[in-house]
Amino acid sequence: MQNNLTRRDLLISGLGVSAAAVTGVGMKDVLASSASSDEKKLSPEDKKKLKEQLQRELERKVYAVSDELFRNVNHVKTPGEYVGHEKGHVPVIKAPKRVKYLEPFTARIEVGPVSLHDMVPFHYIDWISLYVGNVQINNFVVTPLFNRPIVSVELTLEKTSILRAQEHCNLHGIWESEPFIIEVVRPLGDKEFIQDE
Ligand SMILES: [Fe+2]
Repeated sequence: MQNNLTRRDLLISGLGVSAAAVTGVGMKDVLASSASSDEKKLSPEDKKKLKEQLQRELERKVYAVSDELFRNVNHVKTPGEYVGHEKGHVPVIKAPKRVKYLEPFTARIEVGPVSLHDMVPFHYIDWISLYVGNVQINNFVVTPLFNRPIVSVELTLEKTSILRAQEHCNLHGIWESEPFIIEVVRPLGDKEFIQDE
């Protein structure tokens, strides 16, 4: 039986707060509004299944939980134009576009280019990572209520690099930022650093 559960089922069963409670819609109301005379004759087991199905439907409507989002790393479909879940999930890197060789600078990652993502117990970002090229250079674990979906990191670079950020939402999967290129300026006249790669 357990093996037949989808990832979404597991997620929903793990939620501490139901969407019905969040929206102020009681499950009794949902059942009462949808129960036909036939449904009133259901066995306790079938009523339980119906209740679980209704709760899943309600959760899906409120949070648009989708198995599809968990299959891959999600990217913005049209760069610079954010639609649907992209608005609150695509990480945004904020950093200087040009830095000096090995001079420290701050890169900030915000989750949500249009609006910051929720950080509440049933819907939150749980980690944010930064990549330089293909190398994951850190991974920040964040928890709901106390954290905002924003992290800052101090970096130094030896050469012009492409930064990418990823984050994970407990309901909507992994999302990746658009690539952010940082040009590294090397000291002039120093033969050791003249050649860029
Ligand atoms: Fe989300």
